[in-house]
Order: sequence, then structure tokens, then C-alpha cells
Amino acid sequence: MQALVLVGGKGTRLRPLTTDIPKPVLTLVDRPFLSYMIEWLASHGVDDIVFACGFLPDQLEEVLGNGGVDGPRLSYVVEPEAFGTAGAIKFAEDHLEDRFFALNGDVLTDLDLTSLWNSHTERGASASLGLYPVDDPTGYGLVDLDEGGHVLDFHEKPEPGHAGAGLINAGTYVLDKSVLESVAPGQKVSIEREVFPALVGNGLFGLRLDGYWKDIGLPDRFSEACWDIIEGRVMTAVETNQEGIFIGKDCEIDPGARVGPRAVIGDRSKIASGAEVNGSVLISDCEIGEDASVRDSILSSGVKVASNSRVGDAVLGKNEVVR
Ligand code: GDD
Ligand code: MG
Repeated sequence: MQALVLVGGKGTRLRPLTTDIPKPVLTLVDRPFLSYMIEWLASHGVDDIVFACGFLPDQLEEVLGNGGVDGPRLSYVVEPEAFGTAGAIKFAEDHLEDRFFALNGDVLTDLDLTSLWNSHTERGASASLGLYPVDDPTGYGLVDLDEGGHVLDFHEKPEPGHAGAGLINAGTYVLDKSVLESVAPGQKVSIEREVFPALVGNGLFGLRLDGYWKDIGLPDRFSEACWDIIEGRVMTAVETNQEGIFIGKDCEIDPGARVGPRAVIGDRSKIASGAEVNGSVLISDCEIGEDASVRDSILSSGVKVASNSRVGDAVLGKNEVVR
């Protein structure tokens, strides 16, 4: 089985975490974010993944490689300019099988893809959307279904006040290649604003999926995703810990330091005596001085916090120094 993963966004809302490193390979707990997606897809039988890239594609390939040893084969298609969510899939058309999964590459999820694939086949759909219930759909694509699973309306980013709780597009699709016939090549086309609305009544189905789902595109959600992984609310290969603590490789943590509740101490980080780190993610190679305190913050690689300094509710970029 094949999957196309859309990874062309710039991750601007996660800056400065994503200034030097694309969001898809930003370390989440102990591995690049996209590794979770690769592992999830593999667990549903996907053995071939095509990444539709825009931003910093070389770095993506450098980090993830070409796979294929213990997991799916990985390949990369790079648009000359951002073609939008449907334009990017169209651009990869020659690499795609007749039926494939298409995924937004910025979500952490363990939704049941196998049931989406089976529903697609049973219903004879041309496109099937995995749906997830949320209280506030304004930042998403709101989907209205009938009892038979036919999509009645697809409304991308509804206005505030337009809607209450509802089922949203989880960015998780099964598509038949025929859907791409209507997409003009080499142009910017949105699957959410153009393709899906046009497919209503024409083979577009939706299925509510159970499990965990989170778009990690905002700093608060990035840290929440870390706690969800460590505390086991989403199924991943990371070892769980109920206090939400993860300590990476080759860290030096003084016995007089206080770590947690909730902390990711990334590889090679050092925490001196009397320092306190809680509710915070240290991506890697960070140094926290004596009696310093780091709370509810995200520190990119190489951040140094001097002795006695305080960091709270902050998102710090690579190699920043706090005195
Ligand atoms: N290759 C490529 N080219 N990828 C793109 C492009 C492009 O031009 N534009 C966006 N993407 C990728 C992004 O990197 C992301 O993985 C995915 O497509 C979705 O784009 P976002 O910009 O993150 O969209 P969104 O979060 O505002 O909304 C989308 O996701 C929601 C769920 O998180 C929509 O699909 C909504 O309907 C959906 O509810
Ligand atoms: Mg998104």
C-alpha cells in the first residue's frame, strides 16, 4: 500500500523552533516528528511513502533517508513552487498508484487507517475523508455527513460563530487517482477549498475515526503532544512514563536538580545542581545552570540558561543564551 504525505508547509507558527529545521523533522520527544507518521502508516500496511515537499527538502531526506530496510520505502517529490494541497498531489501523480492514502504531514495521530481503507472500498468511493470530532472547528475543515457517510458539505475554516462542535477533516484521506483528473497541472490548487467541495455528491465519503489526533502546528500543541506521547495517550513506539518525564541519551543531570513533573530532556543536555525544569521541552544539547529555573517552555537545540536565571512560558530558538 502507498501513501503520499504533504509536507510543503513552512511551519511558521512554530518559529523560532522551525527557523533552521523544517517542522516535519523537528524532534518530538526522541525522534523526528515524521518518524511517528512513518511508523503509524507502516502499522497499517503501507510499504511505500512519497513525501510531497516544498520547504528545505534536502534536510528532510538527510534526516529520514530512503527507508526500506525495516520500514516503508521513502521517496521525495519537490515542487518548483508551492502548488497547494491538491496541486502538490497532482505534481506527484506519476509516482502514485491507482488508490493511495494521502495525509497532511503535520498531525500526530494513531487513527484507524485500515477501517478508512475498508470503508472506501466497500462504499465504492472516489475519495474518503477520515474525520475527527472537535469542540471548535474554526481552524479546520468542517464536514457534514448523512447517515450513509456521504459528505453533504465541506467547509474549510468556517467563520467563528458559524458552527459549534462538529466533525472535522483530519487530513487523512484515501483517494482514487481519478480524483486528480480535474486538477490542472502546474497550478496552485487547494484540495480543501476546490477539490472536495466539487466532489460533494460525487463519490466523496467521510468516516469518523477513533483514536488520538492532534495538529502540532502551534507551540502549546507541540508540548502537549510530547506529554501525550510520554504518558501514552497516543500509541507510539516511545516508552511511556506516567510523570511525563523523558531523558535522552548522554545527559548529565545533577542529583540536586529537580526535573518534572513533565519534562523532555533531549540528548546531551546538562542540568546543574539546584536547577528546576518542569513543563518544558529541551530539544537537545541544552545547558541549565545552577539554581536556574525553566518552566512551561520549549528550548531549541543548544540553548544555555545561566545560573540563577528564570525562563517561563518561552519558546527559544537554536543556541539562544539566557543570562
Ligand atoms: N507539498 C505541499 N505543497 N504541501 C503543502 C502545501 C503545498 O503547497 N500547502 C500545504 N501543505 C501541507 C502542509 O505542510 C500540511 O502538512 C498540510 O499540507 C496541510 O496544510 P496546512 O497549512 O497545515 O493546513 P491547515 O492545518 O490550516 O488545514 C488543513 O488541515 C486541517 C487538519 O489539521 C486542512 O486540510 C483542514 O481541512 C484540516 O481540518
Ligand atoms: Mg496544519
